[in-house]
Amino acid sequence: MLVVPLIERKREGGALTPEEWSALVAGYTADRIPDYQMSALLMAVMWRGMERQELAALTDAMIASGQRLTFEGWSTPRVDKHSTGGVGDKVSLVLAPLVAACGVAVPMMSGRGLGHTGGTLDKLEAIPGFRTDLSLPEAKAQLQKLGVVLIGQTPEIAPADKRLYALRDVTSTVAAIPLIAASIMSKKLAEGLTALVLDVKHGSGAFLPETERGLELARTMIALGEDRGCPTVALLSAMDRPLGRACGNALETEEAILALRGEGPEDLMELTYALGVEMLLAGRIETSPAKARQRLENALSSGLAAEKFEQVIEAQGGNPKVVEDPSVLPQAQAVEIFSAPGTGVVTRVEPRVLGRAIVAMGGGRTRVEDAVDASVGFVITVKPGDKVLSGEPIASVFARDPAGVQLGFDALRQAIAIGDRLSERPLPLVSHRVTRDGVEPLAATAKKGGRGARASARKR
Ligand code: URA
Repeated sequence: MLVVPLIERKREGGALTPEEWSALVAGYTADRIPDYQMSALLMAVMWRGMERQELAALTDAMIASGQRLTFEGWSTPRVDKHSTGGVGDKVSLVLAPLVAACGVAVPMMSGRGLGHTGGTLDKLEAIPGFRTDLSLPEAKAQLQKLGVVLIGQTPEIAPADKRLYALRDVTSTVAAIPLIAASIMSKKLAEGLTALVLDVKHGSGAFLPETERGLELARTMIALGEDRGCPTVALLSAMDRPLGRACGNALETEEAILALRGEGPEDLMELTYALGVEMLLAGRIETSPAKARQRLENALSSGLAAEKFEQVIEAQGGNPKVVEDPSVLPQAQAVEIFSAPGTGVVTRVEPRVLGRAIVAMGGGRTRVEDAVDASVGFVITVKPGDKVLSGEPIASVFARDPAGVQLGFDALRQAIAIGDRLSERPLPLVSHRVTRDGVEPLAATAKKGGRGARASARKR
């Protein structure tokens, strides 16, 4: 296949045919097309975009590069949630067992943290012994037995995406809406889902900070899902501050466990419930948002959701005692309290600075193969809009050593701004609901956390 004329056509703003996209993906996956030609094509897509039928062909070719899960004769609805990623986003750990406890099967396939954003797999692997590398038959068997499985992308699912994503990562071609949409949806559509719920982040800590770009990504992914028979809905949620209080793998796992025990921070619970309602409606377990919310709250308060998480941990080789006693999680060697440097109103808690600091402290990765130290991170107990007094404890740093604590303190000084008043309103926690029928703006759903909510800037 002659690739240069295709690169030239895309470079000049033309479209490739579905057959050409299919041959390109097949050729690249089979090592017949070199990285340098694929990189040039991806860069041309960054600048020129893709037409709808091109994107459909690329996505279909990526799905076809691997296997597709099928569940003939199994009538339980299967709904997954995918988040575009952020800092402090541990929703999946709470949501998957919670929704499964309500009768919807959740085949959750997640990723690792990369850059400033965290990843669900790293949070799960903070649990001693937890295996995220189940084979596809193992994952399928567990899903049918327990109603939930939490795994990474298996070699059988969309292998073309795995190769293309690694190439995009090193050629600065990640942040293109059609490429992100094809990458995410090829994996999700191969899972054999009944429906899909997307959590698209916007705000300074998101992959795509601008709201309009977030909405465009949501619409693009919804069209791909719906056109392939997978009803897809998206919520746009805030990533202009970290979600919850904990940032860093083991700390977030601990916070997720507390949430499953009914002690989660308000913003984490509200987003989890909002996404859970969509999953129960999409799975047709409930017909109204109010009833769906009630069912979720019952599953949490009865302990069913926490019990489900325990079962999943045990089934995937982890230590289920962690649900009762999170101290079995890796513990940081150096822990220090950070106090407010002045009196006033918190005007900003910048997620990107915190996410980068976690990487620098050893808790994240700059390359896919890097090992992470699960114990490091932050617990930050203030949100934009909170009033603070000079010297009041507002965060804790968890590090490997005193040098790590210093990095953490520097980051907190940079990330948390205190002023006279809020100059910019924080984004509503959930601002838009997007479906195939269009975009529905939603009212702000987050209530401000009171002083009580922040009383626990603490050592673990
Ligand atoms: N997550 C993915 O799976 N793919 C992308 O391209 C970006 C985020």
